[in-house]
Amino acid sequence: MNKPTHSAFADTAEDAIALQEAQSDPMTSDKATEIAMQNTLLTPRFYTTDFAEMDAIDVTPVRADWDRLIAQMKSDPNKGHFKKNDKWQADWEGMDPALRAEFIDFLISSCTAEFSGCVLYKEMKRRGSNTDITTLFQLMARDEARHAGFINDALREAGIRVNLGFLTQAKKYTYFRPKFIYYATYLSEKIGYARYITIFRHLENHPEKQFHPIFQWFREWCNDEFSHGEAFALLLKTDPALTESRVNKMWIKFFLTAVYSTMWVRDHQRPLFHDALGVDVTWYGQEVFRKTSEISKQVFPFTLDIDHPRWRPNLDRMERASVQVARGKARGGIVGTASRVAGMAKAAFAFVSIYTIPAIHHDVPASPVMEPAY
Ligand SMILES: [Fe+2]
Ligand SMILES: [Fe+2]
Repeated sequence: MNKPTHSAFADTAEDAIALQEAQSDPMTSDKATEIAMQNTLLTPRFYTTDFAEMDAIDVTPVRADWDRLIAQMKSDPNKGHFKKNDKWQADWEGMDPALRAEFIDFLISSCTAEFSGCVLYKEMKRRGSNTDITTLFQLMARDEARHAGFINDALREAGIRVNLGFLTQAKKYTYFRPKFIYYATYLSEKIGYARYITIFRHLENHPEKQFHPIFQWFREWCNDEFSHGEAFALLLKTDPALTESRVNKMWIKFFLTAVYSTMWVRDHQRPLFHDALGVDVTWYGQEVFRKTSEISKQVFPFTLDIDHPRWRPNLDRMERASVQVARGKARGGIVGTASRVAGMAKAAFAFVSIYTIPAIHHDVPASPVMEPAY
C-alpha cells in the first residue's frame, strides 16, 4: 500500500504528525508555539492519567453499542477530508489586521486543543494492552492528529506553524484521574461538536460572513467530535457509579460549570472574530450550552439551569474578573499582584454562585447512543 502524503489520509496519529512535521519550512513559528505552550486556566492543556486503570475498563456492559461505534469509526468516512481543495480560497492579506490577530489566536488555540486530545489518546493506545481500549484510542488519536494538521495547514498560509513535535516534548502535562478525564473529555468532545455545528449552520444561512474557507470543513469535523463523545458516553456507562454516586454528581456539576464558563470567558475575548462571523457571542454561548446540555442528557442525570437569573450575570462577572487578572499579571509589582489576586477572588466567587444554582434533573436512557442531529 502506498504511504499517505498528507495527514488527511494518515491511518495513525504517528503518521499524521510525521507528515505535518515533514512540512516544516523555515517559518516564524516560535510565537505560535509559545502561545500553544501557555498553561493558564483558559488555555488548552495537555493531560496525563493513570493509564493502567483506564486499560482495565471492561466494555462488556455496552458491548453491542461499542462494537457498532468502533466499526463506524474504522470505516473512516472522513479519510482525506481534512485537506485543502479548490473550495479553499483564503485571503489573509485582505483581512483586517485586528481580526487576523484574533483569528490566528483562535486557530492556535484550536490546534492546541485538538493536539491535546491527540497526545492523550495516542499515549493511552501506546500504554494499553486491552484491545477494546487501544483500538478506540488509536482511532480517536488518528482523527485529532488530522484535525490539528489541517489547522496547521491553514496557519502555514499566514506564515505560522505550531510545532507539534516540540509541544509533545516540552509542554507541561497535567495529571487527571481517569474519571476526571472521562467527564472533561466527554464534555469537551460534545461541546466541540456543538461549537462547530453552530458556526457551520449559521454560515449556511449567512454565506457572505464566511471570511475564511476552513468553516466549510466544520460539518464533517464536528461529526468526528460527536463520535469521540459517543465513545466517552459508553465508557461512562460501563460503571454506573461514575454518573450516579452522590460525590460523582458533584464532580459532574463541577466539570459542566468549569467547561461552560471557560468557553464563555474565552469567546468573549474574541469580539472581532465573532463580529466578522456575524455571530452574537452571548447568543452563541447560550446556544452551544443548550445543545451540549441536550446531548449530555444521554449520560448525565441533570443539566445546568442556564436560564436561571444567577447564570448570565455571574458568567459576565467571571469574564470581567479574568480581564482584571490578565491586566494585573501584565502590570506586575505589588499593585498588579493585588489586582490579580482580587480578580481571582471575584472569579472564584462568581464560580461558586453558578455552581450552587440548583440543577435540572431528568431520567437517563438505558442506552446512550445518539445521532448528530443539529
Ligand atoms: Fe478534533
Ligand atoms: Fe475529538
